[in-house]
Amino acid sequence: MKIAILSRGPKLYSTRRLKEAALARGHKAKVLTPLKFSIVVEQGHPRLLFSNNKLSRYDAIIPRIGASITFFGTAIVRQFEQMGVFSLSASQAISVSRDKLRTIQILSRHKIGIPMTAFVCTKHGVDAAVDEVGGAPVIIKVLEGTQGVGVLLADTKKTAHAVVETLQMARQNVLIQRFVKESKGQDIRAVVVGNKVVAAMRRIATDDEFRSNIHQGGRTEKIELDAEYERTAIHAAQIIGLRVAGVDMLESKDGPAIMEINSSPGLEGIERATGVDVADAIIEHLEDQVLFPDIDLRQRLTLNAGYGVAEFPITDRSTLVNKRLGASGLSQRDVQVLSILRGSVTIANPHGSEQLLAGDSLVCFGKLLTLKTLLPAPERRKNARHELQDAT
Ligand SMILES: Nc1ncnc2c1ncn2[C@@H]1O[C@H](COP(=O)(O)OP(=O)(O)O)[C@@H](O)[C@H]1O
Ligand SMILES: [Mg+2]
Repeated sequence: MKIAILSRGPKLYSTRRLKEAALARGHKAKVLTPLKFSIVVEQGHPRLLFSNNKLSRYDAIIPRIGASITFFGTAIVRQFEQMGVFSLSASQAISVSRDKLRTIQILSRHKIGIPMTAFVCTKHGVDAAVDEVGGAPVIIKVLEGTQGVGVLLADTKKTAHAVVETLQMARQNVLIQRFVKESKGQDIRAVVVGNKVVAAMRRIATDDEFRSNIHQGGRTEKIELDAEYERTAIHAAQIIGLRVAGVDMLESKDGPAIMEINSSPGLEGIERATGVDVADAIIEHLEDQVLFPDIDLRQRLTLNAGYGVAEFPITDRSTLVNKRLGASGLSQRDVQVLSILRGSVTIANPHGSEQLLAGDSLVCFGKLLTLKTLLPAPERRKNARHELQDAT
């Protein structure tokens, strides 16, 4: 394969390691700096120039887009996607992960622990927001910060007020979050590649610091990840749509609490702490996935008027409860069950012999008119949703 690593720093540890790993596995690999691209948008012929020349054909890209160039970087990744070049990380997923509020909002409807968080647009909401998340001290953080910069601890409501007001005056959007003090200045970084955590470490803040980022002086230690933390990290990366992710979790009294998900996790800290060849795992996964680029179902499905995807719950009063899928009559009505969501398990492409249980959720593709008859009446539709409207 011919692989482009989109990175501003060919000498950066992570960029170097990815290039080395790609070469070692027999690929061609080049580091291309995002700022040298120009995007040409033309109907039917989307293309890119690199240093003002026509870009040669690549099979895959590995985006390593820095936080300071998120807008331009994701635009380039999106352009590669339109050109049919496989991107290890989807532009959409990178955009979501760059915004801490957007990330945990999306996670919050799933069985994934997050620290209680509030977001206010003006200073008038601060008092109530601090109360909602459990009272001072609270964490205040800018939505798009990295490396611990832009994360503060406010000891009192008054300080929270002042900090939020100051940051908002500087045109920063901030969130107010429960301070998980029982995590004692430590957090867990799990690196997810595909459906596995390939490496995990604990980061421990210096004595007088609550932020455990390596850039804030935090030290690291290798850990064997607890099963609940492992499941949480993998599931969260999948929900956000990242094949490779650095998932940051606090060890709260209620279990894992995800703070953020990084789409280009740094490799230096984790490889040094664990001895795992994460770069090799990433390239191996890229080889595995290159034929399966992300498909935006909305773009494909809306062309087919009248069809769509819906999710509906099986309640204990449902006529389908305890029936086998084959006997549910759904396929006769031209409804395909794409998956059954059962707690934290997903049964993909379920067979007719699969029994439907109360509490299951069915993700179905079919005629909207038929799906309408299957969905619960509006007042009882709390858990039902149209996938097409829900996509981020
Ligand atoms: N709600 C919280 N409670 C306790 N510590 C936190 C909380 N949020 C963040 N931290 C600490 O601050 C660090 C940085 O926060 P994070 O949200 O990951 O921002 P960044 O993108 O800057 O890394 C975390 O690694 C953790 O040590
Ligand atoms: Mg972090």
